[in-house]
Amino acid sequence: MEPLSFDAAQSLWSPAGTYLNTASYGLPPQSAWDALQAALEDWRGGRTSWEHWGIPGEDARASFARLVGVPVETVAIGPNVSTLVGLVAASIPDGSRVLAPDVEFTSLLFPFLVQERRGVTTRLVPAVELAAEIGPEVDVVAFSAVQMATGEVADLDGIASAADEHGALTVVDATQTVGWLPFHASRFDVVAAHAYKWMLSPRGTAFMAIRPERMASVVPHAAGWYAGDDPLQTFFGAPLRLAESARRLDTSPAWFMWVATAAALAVIERIGVEAIHGHDVALANRFRAGLGLGPSDSAIVFCDIEDAAEKLELAGIRAAVRGGRVRTSWHVYNADADVDRALDVLLG
Ligand SMILES: Cc1ncc(COP(=O)(O)O)c(C=O)c1O
Repeated sequence: MEPLSFDAAQSLWSPAGTYLNTASYGLPPQSAWDALQAALEDWRGGRTSWEHWGIPGEDARASFARLVGVPVETVAIGPNVSTLVGLVAASIPDGSRVLAPDVEFTSLLFPFLVQERRGVTTRLVPAVELAAEIGPEVDVVAFSAVQMATGEVADLDGIASAADEHGALTVVDATQTVGWLPFHASRFDVVAAHAYKWMLSPRGTAFMAIRPERMASVVPHAAGWYAGDDPLQTFFGAPLRLAESARRLDTSPAWFMWVATAAALAVIERIGVEAIHGHDVALANRFRAGLGLGPSDSAIVFCDIEDAAEKLELAGIRAAVRGGRVRTSWHVYNADADVDRALDVLLG
């Protein structure tokens, strides 16, 4: 794969203004946009057969596996985080005891909470206490590697080693992580991530990496033709023939979304996550410094600024504002000029 320098990479995006909202949704590189348009044209004109529209899903699966450092056979694909995590949550034993942060995105949390009817209990603790709260009475630890509202990076080492010590299943949501933070999925049992934010893809494409020794315990509740080893051979009839690999947890792909996802992940791989990490964190920390805050080394910056919503709206800057709190996120297509502009607008 040919490396891509940062300067060359930045010409692949054309945001309409100052875009600081990747934690809500990321912007596609030109190559992903073009690939999507070409596939849509083929669809509109009925120009091709359909089988090759499955290939980008396989390319994307392989890219994701390389990005998080696991074998491709351990990665399942699906439409979103909750669908994939739901398979795992529905398969933990009755009466399992789950531990999770008290402020956790519901796509990770609800799949466990709906298991209450089977006697599954979920205890919520402050995120900073998660590692310390893992003890022999914890069966499952579910948490986001990067918190979606605040950008805080979880104590990944502490949680992984405490869970190992007590034999707890770790289920990680890496939606706000993969694409900017170097992250090794092999330290955890299950890692799910939706690609439409930091992986610069459309909504509707998600991955779940699962440790091989945990695979057999997860029931592929949504298995269909795509859960077979070769989906083109599992169109009709019994017996059940599931893939040996994590593909058994797949559901059939939304073709066109995967076309764009494969192209976007190829760009991320060509730039390199280390380089993206350096770039994103430098911008975020520069923004923080302008606000008089110390570095947090996260691509997401969360702060209180008076009248932020009005100021950003007037200046046409896209960020997430809830109440008086502003969440900015900094990614490949941002530059120092965006930091300076945001500071001018917010502090001026
Ligand atoms: C941490 C996290 N997980 C998941 C999602 C999206 O959930 P789903 O993939 O179920 O749509 C978001 C969206 O904001 C998120 O921030």
